Amino acid sequence: MSSNVPVRLSVNGRVHELDVEPRLLLVHLLRDRLGLTGSHVGCDTTSCGACTVHVDGEAVKSCTVLAVQADGTKVTTIEGLAQGDQLHPLQEAFWEDHGLQCGYCTPGMIMAAADLLARNPDPTEEEIRHGLEGNLCRCTGYHNIVRAVSDAAKHPHAGRIPHPGPTPEGAAIGLELAREGLGA
Ligand code: FES
Ligand code: FES
Repeated sequence: MSSNVPVRLSVNGRVHELDVEPRLLLVHLLRDRLGLTGSHVGCDTTSCGACTVHVDGEAVKSCTVLAVQADGTKVTTIEGLAQGDQLHPLQEAFWEDHGLQCGYCTPGMIMAAADLLARNPDPTEEEIRHGLEGNLCRCTGYHNIVRAVSDAAKHPHAGRIPHPGPTPEGAAIGLELAREGLGA
């Protein structure tokens, strides 16, 4: 008899219903079940932030969330930021300011930055550095990342996430724990 659990959640505006193993992590649901490979896995210690997505409008490290905890939520990944050919202001700014080199940290960095700008539309450099503390980059030295977030903040919609999508029925359990673990 299968011990899988039904999960219903909205990802980038589209509702998905899946049966998942209780131990499946949200990042693996996104990457392996839905093919959304923009959320990266960069550590096994909840420290790098490469897996950051938004759950019900707040940034979380998706390697700290069980898929079953995301039941009933609205998830946004890096794939949900652009609107057609129109990049999100943060994506534009990272491009313009060379805020990436290998790019491995970039999706998580941008999702964390979007959360920061939603809460603080005009952050100081210190506030940006503090807000991205939970996201590690091995390449850039952070300077251009901070500059990109600062430049994106000049755009009126930089903290806005498009297409939050319909709210699936269900209840999220334990997400506060995951959010506490974000460190941002
Ligand atoms: S993969 Fe490193 S914090 Fe999630
Ligand atoms: S650009 Fe390589 S880890 Fe950040």
